[in-house]
Amino acid sequence: MKSFCVILVLLAYSTTITCRKYGFDSTQNITVSQFACLANEGYSFFIARIYRSKGIVDDVGLENIARASEAGFHEIHGYFFPCLKSECRQSAAQQIDEAFTALEEEGLEIDKLWLDIQIENGSWGTDKKHNQAFIKELIDEAEHETEKVGIYTQNDSWKNIVGIDWNYANNKYLWYPRFNKTPEELTSVFMPFGGWKKPKLHQFDQNVKSKCDVKINRSWDIDPQEF
Ligand SMILES: *[C@@H]1O[C@H](CO)[C@@H](O)[C@H](O)[C@H]1NC(C)=O
Ligand SMILES: *[C@@H]1O[C@H](CO)[C@@H](O)[C@H](O)[C@H]1NC(C)=O
Ligand SMILES: *[C@@H]1O[C@H](CO)[C@@H](O)[C@H](O)[C@H]1NC(C)=O
Ligand SMILES: *[C@@H]1O[C@H](CO)[C@@H](O)[C@H](O)[C@H]1NC(C)=O
Repeated sequence: MKSFCVILVLLAYSTTITCRKYGFDSTQNITVSQFACLANEGYSFFIARIYRSKGIVDDVGLENIARASEAGFHEIHGYFFPCLKSECRQSAAQQIDEAFTALEEEGLEIDKLWLDIQIENGSWGTDKKHNQAFIKELIDEAEHETEKVGIYTQNDSWKNIVGIDWNYANNKYLWYPRFNKTPEELTSVFMPFGGWKKPKLHQFDQNVKSKCDVKINRSWDIDPQEF
């Protein structure tokens, strides 16, 4: 896959160029040469998992940030699975702190942090008020650490976890998984929820075997101009 640009000649005197920007996330341990291969395939951003739903920092994810950077990726984000299991005694804020302390200790930086809010395997309870308070604490603490915090979720998860209309996060970017829909098809199938009118990133497939021998979930950036 190569990134490509669509040139729209609207009127005789105005031309707009829209470049579609693709990226990927993966939980695999990826080598520098595999990252270089993925960059060559046209991916321009990478999203590393930095914290796991087990309540521990993801060491593979942190190493991936360093290797992606070494391979020349300029845009690297992190995603964060919170732990709500009873064995995780840390508060939401403590979990965020653990992740950022680990990044700092390794001298790593991320451009954006995405909080992964999914019903599946997320161990979310049914008390929506509690879930709202937990997510609010994650967001507020993350914003002490980094300017750009977004949410990875889709409408069914959001509905079950916090209620479809809970809009505390509506001024954060949304990263929206919707598989088997091409980027072109997204606008006609996306239904606003949680106060979001459109996603920033669309994750359009999952567990794809790339040419670089790494399994990736692919996303595209809907508004590449807006960083
Ligand atoms: C990732 O792979 C490298 C190379 O095989 C290895 O040295 C490293 O320990 C692995 N990292 C983790 C966290 O397993
Ligand atoms: C959720 O957990 C089940 C059972 O442990 C596992 O088979 C499945 O792959 C998990 N799903 C995700 C998205 O991790
Ligand atoms: C989620 O959005 C899809 C359309 O993308 C829609 O079919 C579905 O009913 C929505 N679910 C909820 C809970 O709103
Ligand atoms: C990508 O897919 C894998 C496998 O289903 C999953 O474990 C991983 O967490 C996904 N990425 C995100 C951002 O949820």
